[in-house]
Amino acid sequence: MKRKKFLKQVLWGTGALSLAPFYSGCYQEQVKAQSEFTLPLMRPGSISKSNFSLVAASGKYSVGRDSHISGFRFNESYPSPTIRANKGDTLNVRFDNQIRQDSIIHWHGLVVPPEMDGHPKYAFSNGHYDYEYTINQRAGTYWYHPHPHRITGEQVYKGLAGFFIVKDDEETSLNLPDGEFELPLLIQDRRVNPTGEILYNPTMPEQMMTGFLGDHILINGVPTPYQTVKKGVYRLRLLNGSNARIFNIAFQSNRSFTLIGSDGGLLPKAVEVDRLLLAPGERADILVDFSALDQETATLVSLPFEVPSAGGMMNGMGNMMGGSGPDQGTGFTLMQFRITNESGYTVPSLPSVLYSSDFPEPEDAELTRQIDLDMQMMQGHTINGKLFEMERVDVQVNQGSTEIWEFVNLSGIPHPMHIHAVQFRVLERTGNRGILPSETGWKDTVLVMPNERVKVIMTFDAPKGMYVFHCHNLEHEDSGMMGNFEIT
Ligand code: C2O
Ligand code: CU
Ligand code: CU
Repeated sequence: MKRKKFLKQVLWGTGALSLAPFYSGCYQEQVKAQSEFTLPLMRPGSISKSNFSLVAASGKYSVGRDSHISGFRFNESYPSPTIRANKGDTLNVRFDNQIRQDSIIHWHGLVVPPEMDGHPKYAFSNGHYDYEYTINQRAGTYWYHPHPHRITGEQVYKGLAGFFIVKDDEETSLNLPDGEFELPLLIQDRRVNPTGEILYNPTMPEQMMTGFLGDHILINGVPTPYQTVKKGVYRLRLLNGSNARIFNIAFQSNRSFTLIGSDGGLLPKAVEVDRLLLAPGERADILVDFSALDQETATLVSLPFEVPSAGGMMNGMGNMMGGSGPDQGTGFTLMQFRITNESGYTVPSLPSVLYSSDFPEPEDAELTRQIDLDMQMMQGHTINGKLFEMERVDVQVNQGSTEIWEFVNLSGIPHPMHIHAVQFRVLERTGNRGILPSETGWKDTVLVMPNERVKVIMTFDAPKGMYVFHCHNLEHEDSGMMGNFEIT
């Protein structure tokens, strides 16, 4: 790596925020855990009523101990409160927008009617929007965040993003860890300047190329925190709420953990893994047994990984063109668990079929659509050659029909593709990555690396109307990498 860039990163890492979660400069290096784990993990408060308000307002607030953000919060909470609901519940939510920008909330992963889904055309400033919908889907780790066109990245970055946890009887009967033994972890990278300020100021190339990549990690809003745990099993609900950064989650000791769920709830079968690639928008549900460890601490990291390049052309180009965060694929320290001697939760052995699933099969599909992901110089990332237009219908699907969409990444940059109003199954991926363990269940966001073609299959059961699909790299989304699809 270039010396100049390395020095720049070192300087940042030792800025006023002395909690520097050190990232390795080069892919080959191992993650260095030099952070101090001085702050405890925070748990955002929960909302479990069926009638509530989310008030978005701006303010300057501190993040961790030494840094601050001029940001936005829902209900004066950072990170945003965790919404908890049960399958079958009808929710009435008033979104009160006091941030002096257009906004609208989207419930990522939930299947709700088009007027309730946060299509950017419903964005408004000053006033409120009333949502009413019934949760009619599987238990799972969903989330919510704003969705106005061109400024979603800014609003999520500045603090508007929270968990939306749905439970149902089938899941509850498994007696998975709950209460203090369930930890929702919102993972976000942030760029911190030497005075401890967190700023959202992507350059043109960042908007157009890599997205906004940060140099520090916040877990539930706290820089590389620690969490005290008992000797027992914990359920960690992981959400990558970063704008552009992909994480390759693992324990520093390389110990394995049990993957039980993905975007759309529990997997058909639990899988033992030792790492987990999580792109912006994706969730993973894992069980970690801290009693099996003969250690006093366990460190959660993001291991360096290789981003396949399109012939090397785009590699490092974001940085060359003015992007300044550590490259995509850089390793980070995320947080530390401190294991006490108290005994914790023991999970009764998991059944061989964790959760029943009725996936559509390729022969059910009416058609296959090819969705090209590309870029136009100085214009931005495109879907089938086009930038987003609010009213243009890009794809029409029949209600109730099953389709295969094949995402083809022709650009040199990873694209985590997200489709509203459905949960899909990943059918195949070209190249050597294949289908990952985290892709064996229901998904709403799938990472398409450069040169890959990824096929997903889904049935469009949502109410008729307009929804969007887009790249969940929020700078890509904001610069036009989004399309409308209409269920007719
Ligand atoms: Cu989480 Cu349309 O996004
Ligand atoms: Cu969504
Ligand atoms: Cu993208």
